[in-house]
Order: sequence, then C-alpha cells, then structure tokens
Amino acid sequence: MTDAPRLPLDLSLNLTHRPRRNRKADWARRLVRENVLTTNDLIWPIFVVEGENVRTPVASMPDVERLSVDQAVVAAQRAVELSIPALALFPFTDPSLRDPNGSEALNPENLVCRATRAIKQAFPQIGVITDVALDPYTSHGHDGVMEGETILNDESVAILVEQSLNQARAGADVIAPSDMMDGRVAAIRAALDGEGFLDVQIMAYAAKYASAFYGPFRDAIGTKAVLVGDKRTYQMDPANSDEALREVADDLDQGADMVMVKPGLPYLDIIYRVKDRFAAPTFAYQVSGEYAMIMAAARNGWLDGEKAMMESLLAFKRAGADGILTYFAPKAAEMLKKGV
Ligand code: PBG
Repeated sequence: MTDAPRLPLDLSLNLTHRPRRNRKADWARRLVRENVLTTNDLIWPIFVVEGENVRTPVASMPDVERLSVDQAVVAAQRAVELSIPALALFPFTDPSLRDPNGSEALNPENLVCRATRAIKQAFPQIGVITDVALDPYTSHGHDGVMEGETILNDESVAILVEQSLNQARAGADVIAPSDMMDGRVAAIRAALDGEGFLDVQIMAYAAKYASAFYGPFRDAIGTKAVLVGDKRTYQMDPANSDEALREVADDLDQGADMVMVKPGLPYLDIIYRVKDRFAAPTFAYQVSGEYAMIMAAARNGWLDGEKAMMESLLAFKRAGADGILTYFAPKAAEMLKKGV
C-alpha cells in the first residue's frame, strides 16, 4: 500500500456518499441488511410412493427421493427437528390406479391421505399441505378431466371439491389447489365450511404459469411419459403479468388465505407485484427445474451449490415472498441452523 501511487490531492473525489462504507466489514453488512431468510420461511415438498421402507431417487432431482409413508414420517421428524413449519405432499400414483377421471384422488385410502394421517399422528405440530389437482391420478396427466382434447372446467371443479374434502378428512391443514381451473377456490371453501372444516386453510396456486421448469417434477410423480399435449389452456402464459394480478384478486375474493406464484426465480417480478398490490400472505414455489439447474451446475463444479441455494432463497424474500416451497428446504434449514 505504502508504495502504491497516491492520487494527487486535487484529483481526490471528495465524495459525499461512499456506499462501500456500510459494506466494509461483516458486522457492518449485518447491521444494514434489509432481508433475512429463516427456517420459518420454508415449506418442504415431498414425494410419496407406495411401499414400506422405500426411498427411490428422482434422476433429474439429485438428493430428492420418493418416500414410502413410513419414510415420509421420518422426513417429517427431520422437518420438526429443523423447525421447518410445513410439508407439501405429492404422490407418485401407481400407473394401474390412474384413469381418465383421476378417481384415485377421491379414495380415502390413497397415498396422500395415508401419508397425511401418519404424519399428523406422529407430529401434530407440523403443517401438512396437500395438493389439489388431478394430474397424479389421471391416465392423461392433466389436472382436470377431458372431453376430446378439452380440459373441462366446471366438471373438473366438482371433482376437485371432493378431492379437497377427502384430504381435509384425512387431516390436511392446508388445501393447495394447483389445478388452475376457474372458480375452484370458492367451491372448495364452501364445501370445506359445509363439512365444518372452518379452519382448514386454502393456499391457492393463484399465478401458476405453463412452464418448462416443471419437467423434473413430472418425472418424480410419473406424469411426463403420459401427459397428452400441454397445459396452456389452463396454466398462465409466461408473457403475462397484469393477468397474474387478476388471478390473485380473484382467488383472494373467493376466499384464499394465501396465494402462490409459480415458478419462482424467473417470476420474481410477479411476486413483487402481487405482494405490493395485495399485501396478502404470498408464497413462491422454487420448482423442480430451478432446483435441478442449481444442483446440476453445482455437481459439475460450475458454481457453489450452497451459496447459489441460499442466494436464490434470499432473493424470494427480497422480492416480497413470505415463504418459499423449495426442495432445498432441509438443506437450507441445516445451514441456517449452523448459522451459515
Ligand atoms: C401439477 C403440479 C405441478 C407442479 C406442482 N403441481 C406440475 C404441473 O403443473 O405439471 C410442479 C412443481 C415443480 O415443478 O416442482 N398439479
């Protein structure tokens, strides 16, 4: 430093603002930090599969496994130990149980209902969020029922309402419709209230886009191979932003307690607008493809996976999300616990 050339005095910048002052040390950065990620912000999505003591890897999602019900309970214990508030359950339904109407969704003994009961019995203190949509159960992989090439709206809603009641009876704390049919939130709310499930919450996948980033998830639940066509007649066009606000307004009017934007990182602008406009509990889903991208790059040594994970999760908080559904939940919670 001493030998370094010094600026002549008449060239010194005389700056009023030197933003770097507040970044000069770790303590100073911590002092002015605006947003913080905690384990309270995490929701852990889990894939459940038939069997006993089964954990099968999902090829496109490193470190993610499909879990049999007993193993899902083990995961719930891990979540409790890590102070993760809630789990979101998604089933891999045996292909033999899939049919055009997704009737397994209404079976009180289906995988999700059994997993919900087992988890709530072992750990009543953890939140269980169940997915309402027919795609894990239909032979065509769509979220509703079809007539020819058309996904029928109102007929699908009628089934989704029954699916919601089935899950609520099994003990689900939060019903999360991800189907994107019109009017389903009001119909589900009325049915839940009608059966006395006044405190069962609804987390609406309000602004859910027709996205290529769902690919690995469809591997995980076994719908990729069967999906006929695409979901663009019900999921949103990635080009649209104002429309997301109308979707969210509609779901809140219909009684949604919480709203979600999905996917996550490519749609931070939507999260920001939704939180800004409605000031409602707003969640982001860091979807399977986002997880796969970070994991793949990390495994190639192309980026630091843990740092990219934590930075991406913090970005959701900065954008205004109250919480994040993420496959990184247990890993991130472990790092937070260690104070990293
Ligand atoms: C479908 C559903 C999807 C996801 C959650 N629920 C995929 C789809 O719409 O095809 C995606 C989640 C992810 O990619 O992690 N009801």
